[in-house]
Amino acid sequence: MPRHFLRDDDLTPAEQREVLELAWAFHEDRFLRAPLSGPRAVALVFDKPTLRTQVSFSVGVAELGGFPLVVDGRLAQVGVRESVPDVTRVLDRQVAAIVWRTFGQDRLEEMAAVSRVPVVNALTDDFHPCQILADLLTVAQHHGGLGGLAGQRFAYVGDAANNMAASYLLGGATAGMHVVVAGPEGYLPPAAIVARAEEIAATTGGSVTVTTDARAAVTGADVVAADTWVSMGDEDEAADRLAALADHQVDAGLMALAAPDAIFLHCLPAYRGKEVTAEVIDGPQSVVWDEAENRLHAQKAVLTFLLEHR
Ligand code: NVA
Repeated sequence: MPRHFLRDDDLTPAEQREVLELAWAFHEDRFLRAPLSGPRAVALVFDKPTLRTQVSFSVGVAELGGFPLVVDGRLAQVGVRESVPDVTRVLDRQVAAIVWRTFGQDRLEEMAAVSRVPVVNALTDDFHPCQILADLLTVAQHHGGLGGLAGQRFAYVGDAANNMAASYLLGGATAGMHVVVAGPEGYLPPAAIVARAEEIAATTGGSVTVTTDARAAVTGADVVAADTWVSMGDEDEAADRLAALADHQVDAGLMALAAPDAIFLHCLPAYRGKEVTAEVIDGPQSVVWDEAENRLHAQKAVLTFLLEHR
């Protein structure tokens, strides 16, 4: 059976470190390794909008020596025109890996259950694990290297019930960080995710805290992260969400509570004046463009890892 990367805890702490070391090496040398040379194709299937993910996986697959095959979900209609297993069986005869951005995590799991090639989560409603690898690489670049990840205090503020919050909890705990997520009542992470993150943190020396107090969350933090208040698929709830999350904006006052050398992360796209002020995301503590670039290096590393662990 191939290895898949469906959620952050599909990598053990040692494996996450191995992937991050490879990502670091790809950052140093874009053409370090070419496990897809041939070229072999990788299917990139998008059921939701994309910019960074399509670009970084396309460029990344090409730099690994392969051919990126973008499959438009509006045309493929996975699970509508034909079932997820039938689509998977067609793809896995022709491609070396399948990268899928879709809605429910159950769809990705259904694919992985039958796929003969690695399946990679390029964002679901539940997790965004490739983004977290990029974010961990970014933190390491700015704060003491990969060896410095464990023990850092990582604060996420905003919609703490979304995919980014869940992935920060699992991926951050795997890296041995002290992960704090803050959101208003009704926008806090599922209990099962918190419990799983706590279980991982107990093995890595990290910790997990969930709070409704954004100021407490950010105080002393080494890293502050935000994400949109209206995730893809949540558009119908936009008005309610903007009202509920209004006092969980990352502004200069909140950032001032963090450590003096704290960095600001945002997976993008960003909505200035909503989840973050322009002053913060366009300011000196923001490293969001490094973070966006690091999608490329991190995803090349995780693809290489999965292809070589068959
Ligand atoms: N939580 C956001 C992340 C976008 C990259 C969404 O799912 O739309």
